[in-house]
Amino acid sequence: MIAYTSRTGNIQFVLSKIEAETIELSPNLHVAKPFLLFTYTDGLGTVPAITEQFMVKNAANCKGVIVSGNRNFGHAHFGRAGDILASQYQIPLVRKLDLRGTAEDYAIIQSFYMKMMKEGFT
Ligand SMILES: Cc1cc2nc3c(=O)[nH]c(=O)nc-3n(C[C@H](O)[C@H](O)[C@H](O)COP(=O)(O)O)c2cc1C
Repeated sequence: MIAYTSRTGNIQFVLSKIEAETIELSPNLHVAKPFLLFTYTDGLGTVPAITEQFMVKNAANCKGVIVSGNRNFGHAHFGRAGDILASQYQIPLVRKLDLRGTAEDYAIIQSFYMKMMKEGFT
């Protein structure tokens, strides 16, 4: 499972390149199995409120975070939501993508996802 939030469609586009079960974050969503979190980065390198709220309730099953950002925001802010979440919840930062990312990003996400599914269900 990949639990995601996408405000302007970039993350939704990336997910169209990946074979995975997905679910969009919504208030009160509870994910009761292993999942990867996929979030964008908000103003000045912050974690979107909906992502923060979701993780407060669901972090226990989160096996890693994927983040999309925009390099034009500068090194200190680029994809920083992913760095914050990885550190806060002690989970791996699977990949940081610039906007819609690249084929290499998709391959790395796909491979991490397959690994998580294998470990989660054997
Ligand atoms: C208001 C606003 C603030 C943003 N702030 C940052 C930022 O601080 N750092 C960053 O890396 N990207 C920032 N971004 C870029 C988004 O994280 C990036 O475009 C991402 O791909 C959006 O994903 P989505 O299209 O799935 O919503 C910002 C975008 C918007 C609209």
